[in-house]
Amino acid sequence: MSNILDPSLAPMGKEKIEWVKDRMPVLTRIGQELASDKILRGLKIGMSIHLEAKTAYLALILKEAGARVYITGCNPLSTQDDVAAGLASLGVNVYAARGISPDKYLEYQRKVLDNQPDLIIDDGGDLLETYCAMPEAQKWQLYGGCEETTTGIIRLKQREKNGTLPFPMMDINDAHCKHFFDNRFGTGQSVWDGIMHTTNVLVAGKTVVVAGYGYCGEGIAMRAKGLGAKRVIVTEIDPIKAIKASLDGFEVMTMTEAAPLGDYFITATGCKDVITSEHFVLMKDNAFLANSGHFDVEINLHDLATMSYASEERRENITGYYLENGHTLNVLAEGRLVNLAAGNGHPAEIMDMSFSLQGLGLKCLVEKCGMLENKVYNIPQEMDSYVANIKLAAMGIHLDKLTDEQAAYLSF
Ligand SMILES: NC(=O)c1ccc[n+]([C@@H]2O[C@H](COP(=O)([O-])OP(=O)(O)OC[C@H]3O[C@@H](n4cnc5c(N)ncnc54)[C@H](O)[C@@H]3O)[C@@H](O)[C@H]2O)c1
Repeated sequence: MSNILDPSLAPMGKEKIEWVKDRMPVLTRIGQELASDKILRGLKIGMSIHLEAKTAYLALILKEAGARVYITGCNPLSTQDDVAAGLASLGVNVYAARGISPDKYLEYQRKVLDNQPDLIIDDGGDLLETYCAMPEAQKWQLYGGCEETTTGIIRLKQREKNGTLPFPMMDINDAHCKHFFDNRFGTGQSVWDGIMHTTNVLVAGKTVVVAGYGYCGEGIAMRAKGLGAKRVIVTEIDPIKAIKASLDGFEVMTMTEAAPLGDYFITATGCKDVITSEHFVLMKDNAFLANSGHFDVEINLHDLATMSYASEERRENITGYYLENGHTLNVLAEGRLVNLAAGNGHPAEIMDMSFSLQGLGLKCLVEKCGMLENKVYNIPQEMDSYVANIKLAAMGIHLDKLTDEQAAYLSF
């Protein structure tokens, strides 16, 4: 039995799922292959992932391949209630609603695990952490799982290092067809989509400060430039990334130097306390602050609340904090990842590749059952290339082929 907000929203949710389906040809093909080789048939799959149309389509693909699927959100604000209802009406077990409390969030993670899945799909690592926190006697044997994002991989690698990873995990994030496109182009577009849709304020002519110049930060900075921002400033802690940002044409400085300059501040670091009281106090009146990193710890909202004499929801997904110095700072989507909490997430064409890798990652875990240790594994290169080739074919793009002589020259 599903736990969702309102089953009557199902038709709207199903429309959204139908819309993305046409834009995810690679995932459709991988789904057909999984169904015909019957590898997932009869298996239970637990998912904790941003519950919107693309993830819903992934869940349906897995169901159509013969698996029983149990899904919850991986962030209390990114669940779309209509999609949750649509998915439940299509036979997937859904435990999710937008805006649930931290206790409810944990309860729903546990509900997924109560079904003792054979495989998991995690985004950020909360489902795996919930499994690890269970009493030993209640645990069961899993084939393993797939992790979607950078922050989740960091958590998994910590567990691998201290020997507490409970089963093998596939690192989807570090496949080329994931982070090259999803983190950079997906985040680049969808973060601005979320911000512009929420604020209805011009980007052209403004100063944008991007914290972190990893894959996500690069995408956000690149698109800020394309939208006509007058000045795009990057803050970094890594000297190599800082040089890259500088040579890509962005100003690089510390957050303290950037704080008085920005109209928009966007964090994309996976780190905590990137913007704190030391910076808030320097910011312009009416600056916007948004986060695109996985957890809501990059902008220190505790600091901001403490130094504000009042705060209020000024508009949907915008909280105004009123500072003693007379300035108002606008925080989008409670500092949670803005593209999903205040938008529709990445374009479907991008998630087509990420979620195809998820399907292939699950297949790999089942095929290699008994051969894997409790470690974090990269997606095999041939699977990455397979997804890239199907994507190119779907895009109608052709590649040159090496002659035998060229291959020998390159020692293939
Ligand atoms: N919003 C989304 O849809 C989405 C999509 C993919 C990834 N993510 C999340 O976004 C975050 C970043 O992912 P990524 O793939 O770009 O990671 P990444 O490791 O490629 O980049 C992070 C960058 O931030 C820098 N950094 C770390 N701490 C910093 C600090 N205190 N100040 C300034 N810079 C700092 C690092 O040096 C690095 O260059 C992660 O939490 C990831 O899970 C979000």
